[in-house]
This record gives sequence, C-alpha cells and structure tokens, in this order.
Amino acid sequence: MTLNERRIRLEAFLLETAPLWRASTFRERRPAWCAGHPELTAALLALDEKTLAALSGDLSATLAWLTPTLPVLQALPGLTDLPSAEVAARPARRPKTRNRGIPGRKVGQIDAFVAAVGQPQAPLVEWCAGKGHLSRRFLETWGGAALAVERDATLCASGSAIAERLRQAQRFLTADVLQVTTAGSLNGAHAIALHACGDLHRRFIETAARLRVPAVDVAPCCYQLTADEWYRPLCPDATLSLDRLALKLAVTETVTASPREAADSARASAWKLAFLILREELRPGVEYETLRPVPAAWISHDFPAFLTQLAQRESLPLPSGLDHAACEATGWQRHHESRRLQLVRMAFRRALEVWLLCDLAVWLEGEGYVVTLKEFCRASLTPRNVLLSARIR
Ligand SMILES: C[S@@+](CC[C@H](N)C(=O)[O-])C[C@H]1O[C@@H](n2cnc3c(N)ncnc32)[C@H](O)[C@@H]1O
Repeated sequence: MTLNERRIRLEAFLLETAPLWRASTFRERRPAWCAGHPELTAALLALDEKTLAALSGDLSATLAWLTPTLPVLQALPGLTDLPSAEVAARPARRPKTRNRGIPGRKVGQIDAFVAAVGQPQAPLVEWCAGKGHLSRRFLETWGGAALAVERDATLCASGSAIAERLRQAQRFLTADVLQVTTAGSLNGAHAIALHACGDLHRRFIETAARLRVPAVDVAPCCYQLTADEWYRPLCPDATLSLDRLALKLAVTETVTASPREAADSARASAWKLAFLILREELRPGVEYETLRPVPAAWISHDFPAFLTQLAQRESLPLPSGLDHAACEATGWQRHHESRRLQLVRMAFRRALEVWLLCDLAVWLEGEGYVVTLKEFCRASLTPRNVLLSARIR
C-alpha cells in the first residue's frame, strides 16, 4: 500500500466511524453511539479497574476487546501498522557511550532515531533542539558538524557547554523557528527534529521542502499545539476536518504517565467534571463551554478550595449550603464512567495520528521527495515513535 493509498483509506474509515470518535465522553455523559450499543455501553461501564488499566495502556488489547461488538474496527491494524525502522547503517567505529545527562527514556529515543537515520547526508540542522542531544549523538556517531536551533537561551547555553566539553562541532542558534528569518538555517541541511510540536513540525517540513534540502528526518508530536482552530491538511484533496479535540485524541496516551501523574490527572478530571455538572445544574440549557486549563496548584488543595477558585474564575456564583462531598462524589462518578466509555474513542487514536502523518508524507512526495513512515522505537520508549524520513529525488 502506498502512503497515498493509506491516507485515502484511513480518511474513508475515519469519516465512516466519526460518530464513534468525535464525541468526548468528558463533555457528553452518554455519546450518541451509546443508544445504538446498549450492551457495549453496559459492558464498558462494568469494567473493573484492573481490566480498564490493562486495556487503556494497550491499543491491540482494546481492539481485541471491542472488535466483536464493533466489527468495523477489524480494518484498523491493516491501516495503522507501520514497519519498524531497521538500523540504517553502522558507523565504522562504535561511538562511546557516556553518561550524557539526558533524562530517562530520551536516551533510548535518541539512540533509536540515530540508528534508524544512519549517516547524515549533509551538515545537520536540528530544529527545536532543546540542549541538542539528538544532533550531538549524530556527531558522536558519524562526526561532521551540526547547528542546533532552539528558542530557549538557557537550553542553548547548557547544550553549548556540553558540546564544548565533548569537543563536538555543534553550534547553537537561539531563535524562534516560526520567524521567517530563521527559515534560512535549514538551507542545504540534513534537517532533523525530534518531537517538534504541531505548528513547529509543520513549518519545519514546509520550510525544508521549499528550500529543497537533501534530507529530512522528523518525529512529529502534539498535533493540537497549533494556532489554528482546525487542522489545515497539506494535501489539497483531504476532506477530513479535525478540530483541536480530535488532534489531541491522536496523541492521547497513558503509557508514559507515572503513578503520581496519573493520580493528579484523575483528580483534576473528577473535580473539573464536578464543576461542569454543577454549572449545568445552575445554568440549565446553556451550551457547553470549554474550560480553560486549570492551574496545577489548584488540585493540590482540597475540593472545596478548588471549586471556589474555579467558580470565581468562571463567574459562577456558588449556592450557599452547597454539599461539597456530594458534589465531589458526582464528579468522581462521571470520571469513572467517562474513562470507561472513552475506550471506544481511544481505539481510533493511532488511526488519526497515522492519517496526520500521511498528510505530511504525501505532501512531501508531491514536492519531489521519496518518503517513508516507520516506527523508530518501541511505543514504551515514546508513544510518538514514528519517523518521517524524506530524501530528495
Ligand atoms: C518537546 S521539546 C523537544 C526537545 C528535543 N528535541 C527533545 O526531543 O528532547 C520542544 C522544544 O522546542 C522548543 N521550542 C518551542 N517552540 C519553539 C520555537 N518557536 N522556536 C524554537 N524552539 C522552540 C522548546 O523550547 C523545546 O526545547
């Protein structure tokens, strides 16, 4: 299957199944599909915590569980499974492995990215580089020179100091890659970027293609971090409309959250739901309004303090004598239901992500590149594990 065939088939599949993945179980207590699938709804709501946790962290298990009731999902693996990247080429000498001060799983991601790409085709330019760990690893492996472009001056200074200590020919440019003046940094480069979010990876790809750079390797992430309300497909014939909620679904994972992060996020969700239910009761018939993000510090106190702060911010006068315990309990009940019902939505997350990747990839093909999409590492190292590689024809 070509990338374009994959894109077209995924698009048809996502359009056909939209009622199953568009509705947010956070916003809607019972999405419309529940009425047509009462048995599935009941089975989901009855899931115990252990089974739910096992399913939520494992897309294949989710699909196996859901497919008997939703046979349309049978098509998914064939549309979303991508080949694994092989080691492209080995250097003559193995690079020294040193303690590189790179946090947690990042080391594994970087090593896998470097192994999948192989020898750079031109001087490297890394966008959204952080401390430039990725391009520095290329230099340690293959030699050569690299420019790391990063907006945060502190990260640039730390990266520069590491490069100097390791005697690597790596320079830093403190710049905003969204400024047109920064675009020229990619000229003639082998352009690389690991986990450049939304508008950043899009601009990276568009700029690289406009400059006709010889090689591009990028692992995109966070598609929802974009200035636009709706995704603007690069391929002109695309008919799928994705808002930020759908873009966020494409990158929703629980795999890499620590138990502490998971507990915080559960509390934030239950407490926000408690507020939303109360708002609905106090202002019946008013259309759902998206809540702005709630400061993390608010969930470190107790529920009444959280509710008071949020109600003040949202200009919702709280009734006197409000039963806070009952209000919090309704939030936790909705959270319990929402997590279970959203399993259906979650089944489509990789399909959305692969469609977005195909949009970028097929557009690049049209610009004169040979393009591949491959998994460069296990999803447990990073769920954003797809490498888009483009080489000029
Ligand atoms: C998700 S981090 C990825 C960093 C690194 N590539 C990695 O994988 O660890 C994104 C990086 O992009 C940088 N960044 C965000 N917006 C930027 C912009 N407009 N111009 C340049 N860098 C930006 C951030 O400061 C951050 O270091």
